[in-house]
Amino acid sequence: MRFDERAGSYEEHAAPQRRFAEALAAFAPFHRGAQVTELGAGTGFLTNALLAQGVFVEATDASPAMIEVGQAAAPTAVWKQREAFGAQPKAKAIASSGLLHWAADPVLVLKQWRDALPKSGRLLLGVPCDPCLNELRDLTGEGPIRWRDEAQWLQVLDHAGFDVRAHGVLESTETYPSAIDLMRALHGSGVTGSPRLNPGELRNLIRDYDRLHRKGDAVVATWAWLLVDAVAR
Ligand SMILES: C[S@@+](CC[C@H](N)C(=O)[O-])C[C@H]1O[C@@H](n2cnc3c(N)ncnc32)[C@H](O)[C@@H]1O
Repeated sequence: MRFDERAGSYEEHAAPQRRFAEALAAFAPFHRGAQVTELGAGTGFLTNALLAQGVFVEATDASPAMIEVGQAAAPTAVWKQREAFGAQPKAKAIASSGLLHWAADPVLVLKQWRDALPKSGRLLLGVPCDPCLNELRDLTGEGPIRWRDEAQWLQVLDHAGFDVRAHGVLESTETYPSAIDLMRALHGSGVTGSPRLNPGELRNLIRDYDRLHRKGDAVVATWAWLLVDAVAR
């Protein structure tokens, strides 16, 4: 992932992430005046949706460039640079969208988040899950992320000591003029890491994607996000 490098182009290429973050906030709203620590806040999609509910948001992210963009987009949140995959300072509630799937050991990370919360403290979590981008993954093979489905994520939450109060998967079919535009969107939003394919393999991938997943004058990609409202046990 290259979020720090792509902070300037993230919003332009992250329409699905924006919709999922806004849906997550609407799925289980906080009370006006609640204090929420957001992890991996990026450019502030979820931050702004929480602020609109009258929530006090401490927005944190590991990337200084993301924080700079976020601070401009959501200036009434308190922005701090913070690593999310480690011990966390005490928080009344935690919210996060589009971050946890990057953790090598999400159970361990979630245990650290739980330890920062009081008993029954809320976790509002949005995480991409299978079948997100399955068309692309069928062609490239898995990696670098380990993709989990809804049941596997719910098990991760249980093992980390969270009781899930409500959950659901939002699936959407995104369209792109061609496979190369999908690749550009992924690249521009920073979700791609170091290239795993050589130029010839990339050309073949784009040609195969265009052939297999064209619907009319666009190609399609499935996006899927698990929305979770949970409390610390
Ligand atoms: C896909 S973006 C999601 C941003 C935002 N939550 C949204 O929904 O648009 C992931 C964000 O997590 C941040 N991030 C990635 N790994 C992180 C870590 N270990 N600790 C804190 N932030 C991290 C990135 O800098 C990036 O801003």
